[in-house]
Amino acid sequence: MNITQFNSKEELDQHAAELFAALLAHNPQATLGLATGSTPTGIYEKMIKMHQAGRLSFNEAATFNLDEYVGLPPGHDQSYAYYMNKYLFNHVDVRREHIHLLDGMADDLAAECSRYDQLLAAKPIDIQLLGLGHNGHIGFNEPDHSLQGGTHIVELKAETREANARFFESVDQVPAKAVTMGIGSILKADTILLVVKGADKAEIVKEALTGPITTECPASLLQTHAKVIVLLDREAGRLLD
Ligand code: GLP
Repeated sequence: MNITQFNSKEELDQHAAELFAALLAHNPQATLGLATGSTPTGIYEKMIKMHQAGRLSFNEAATFNLDEYVGLPPGHDQSYAYYMNKYLFNHVDVRREHIHLLDGMADDLAAECSRYDQLLAAKPIDIQLLGLGHNGHIGFNEPDHSLQGGTHIVELKAETREANARFFESVDQVPAKAVTMGIGSILKADTILLVVKGADKAEIVKEALTGPITTECPASLLQTHAKVIVLLDREAGRLLD
């Protein structure tokens, strides 16, 4: 693992955006795995600025998002489809037909998961951006005694719904289920870019990066991947040596 700590979120976000720009300069048709949550918004801001400055184009790139809430339509302001449009897609030149999102409203969610896995198999991810949940989840792969490789439906843990309640009117409004790319799909990405910010994540960062590899901390499985880049702010990295 290649771990870098940054003095400011600003520098971290710029560095992350530069990694995407370098990849796309080298391979304009790259497949990007994208994430949501509060962590990546600054990175997307930097990407938009670089795009506006003519330094970054998504015109030939494909994107896959990690996950989506079950039962939220794309127009719902807390759906991840809405988030991606708001924070990135509406401001850059990515082609709509190259954007891959999970449909949390699908009548047949199992079929939706298979559809996503087929698309992923055809377009392997070059770089997968990941945030980190307080309980070690990546995407919406929650801690459990076993984990699934492919895209699947997941029952969200109470702590995850509580953590995400800040974006909703109340915790009851947070969907109980989600669809998420599986750990197997995440680990198939050529490069993984794990980004973590904030003092409240310091303990889980330490556990995930230096603790035992266990399904009870899904992010710890990243230790088995050959190319993981970890970008931390000082607060998130404060418990590391
Ligand atoms: C959410 C998302 C994850 C995200 C994580 C952390 O529930 N499904 O993809 O990485 O939780 O979110 P945040 O960046 O807001 O702390």
